[in-house]
Amino acid sequence: MKTYRIAAIPGDGIGGEVISAGVEVLEALAARDGGFSFAFDHFDWGGEYYKQHGRMMPEDGRDRIRGHDAILFGSAGHPEIPDHITLWGLRLAICQPFDQYANVRPTRILPGIVSPLRNVTDKELDWVIVRENSEGEYAGVGGRVHQGSELEAATDVSMFTRKGVARIIRFAFELARSRPRKLLTVVTKSNAQRHAMVMWDEIAREVAEEFPDVTWDKMLVDAMTMRMVNRPETIDTVVATNLHADILSDLAAALAGSLGIAPTANLNPERDYPSMFEPIHGSAFDITGQGIANPVGTFWSSVMMLEHLGEPVAGARLMQAVERVTADPRFHTPDLGGKATTAEVTAAVIEAIRSAND
Ligand code: IPM
Ligand code: MG
Repeated sequence: MKTYRIAAIPGDGIGGEVISAGVEVLEALAARDGGFSFAFDHFDWGGEYYKQHGRMMPEDGRDRIRGHDAILFGSAGHPEIPDHITLWGLRLAICQPFDQYANVRPTRILPGIVSPLRNVTDKELDWVIVRENSEGEYAGVGGRVHQGSELEAATDVSMFTRKGVARIIRFAFELARSRPRKLLTVVTKSNAQRHAMVMWDEIAREVAEEFPDVTWDKMLVDAMTMRMVNRPETIDTVVATNLHADILSDLAAALAGSLGIAPTANLNPERDYPSMFEPIHGSAFDITGQGIANPVGTFWSSVMMLEHLGEPVAGARLMQAVERVTADPRFHTPDLGGKATTAEVTAAVIEAIRSAND
């Protein structure tokens, strides 16, 4: 029997609550399947660790998780620590050196969940946003001088490489090709950002020639926000820069009903390093410890992890269980307008896994 070694990093805020829910559900799934099992290693890295040790994870942190089959991550962000420290000290400190350059963010309206868009159906809003995850606006290039004086100056330079752009666009074309509609939208802002974004457009045109069976179009990011709201049915797969896709994916999650259900995969497609799976929602300190965090984002991210591990049947089984549970409003947490607790939703999903008769 195959045992998958998973590094669980709950991080901060509601991360602990949703990751332990995810671990419970994955264990139930493995028990139901019988063909594989999980060995979880838990790492207490994050804000509390920082307060004790002055860093978000130990110096050899990456070495400790390099050999795992996948990473299940909760969130990074702490009210007493500046955001750029928590982000760069943990999440980006894993994503970037592990070259998890493809950030994949599916969005669908799950059964029982109501979109704020009037009359939109689940068939019309079924998207995957591919976010460039290794460079661009998150390259960390820039500096700050003369701090505190009136001469103070600061720059954040977005940096794009031909290799980085080509590989994410190729990844997105491949993903679009694997989906029934074979439709890709390449998002930039190449009217105003006249160097790197123009290069994006050029590379997109070049890569597109390898994919004659995929229909593709280009869209400026501002116009894309309108299209997502006004003509959601014209969109399938989307590829955009690190920052643009960060923003578009929050809009997508809101249009699909809640940030609490949105999943993400940080993939190293070449599998030189482990890939990392996490809910999009963040640490949510306003509800931490109340037991009402929506675990669905973590469950859906776990589905993506199972697919990556080569267990698509188990992944589909988990997704089906999640959808059976979201269909019942008694199991909606407060972000979805309900009263359910994390524990109730988790128990319902486990019950749905156990009682599935396939
Ligand atoms: C996301 C988040 C992060 C990001 C934050 C927490 C820094 O918004 O994963 O979308 O911008 O990358
Ligand atoms: Mg975001």
